Amino acid sequence: MRIGILGTGMMATTLGGAWVRAGHDVLVGGRDRAAAAATAARIGAAGYGTLTDGAVHGDLVLVAVPADVAPKVVEGLADALSGRTVVDCTNPIAPADGGLMLTTGGTTSVARRMAEAAPGAHVVKAFNLCHESIWTLPRPAFEGAPLAVPFCGDDPGSLDQVTALITSMGCTPMPCGGLARAVYIEATAAFAIGAWWSGTEPRFAFPTPAQASPNS
Ligand SMILES: NC(=O)c1ccc[n+]([C@@H]2O[C@H](COP(=O)([O-])OP(=O)(O)OC[C@H]3O[C@@H](n4cnc5c(N)ncnc54)[C@H](OP(=O)(O)O)[C@@H]3O)[C@@H](O)[C@H]2O)c1
Repeated sequence: MRIGILGTGMMATTLGGAWVRAGHDVLVGGRDRAAAAATAARIGAAGYGTLTDGAVHGDLVLVAVPADVAPKVVEGLADALSGRTVVDCTNPIAPADGGLMLTTGGTTSVARRMAEAAPGAHVVKAFNLCHESIWTLPRPAFEGAPLAVPFCGDDPGSLDQVTALITSMGCTPMPCGGLARAVYIEATAAFAIGAWWSGTEPRFAFPTPAQASPNS
């Protein structure tokens, strides 16, 4: 798959590295070409360039910039991104009230704002729940099960692309419905990351009903 990455930081490096290892054709695009070149070299990407280069390279384009600037970045690339799958991995979170709060207020999502900023793009929310370090693992699996990657979006073809991408990484696709669900995925990240920061394990709060069975 041809993948463009917008951003040159931690998520660009770790997710981009995972995609290179999975055999995808990755180009790193940044506002700083030297940083894009360094990230591309670090992960063995096929190329590097500007943000526009990243947008036009990808059948699928990852937006890996801070949440507060992501809609503006996408708006500036709206023509280039038209018709492409745009993956939003951002987390709109900030410390507040002794934990983390959504900077969106929780009534809309960054993914929705990106879709409004670039109406021709097919936005999919994905890859925002895990810390970047998880993507450095060759085939992430925990407690005997491959990592599940939740995602949501409205365009069937883009959802198929993201499903194929997640599968290529040895992970399990977890489709969560339309882009309206992005508010929940973003809120889940705020909850989980806030819990990690406070030293607790959010995954222990979600046993399935089947685990109540004496045979489980
Ligand atoms: N790190 C994680 O574990 C993690 C996990 C899940 C989700 N996320 C989300 O992923 C996104 C990226 O996180 P990260 O950790 O990769 O951040 P990062 O290491 O700080 O990298 C951010 C990238 O965004 C670029 N950038 C910042 N402002 C920009 C602008 N106005 N226009 C264009 N590019 C701009 C930066 O470029 P410069 O170097 O030129 O400033 C840098 O390349 C964030 O939204 C974050 O919430 C992160």
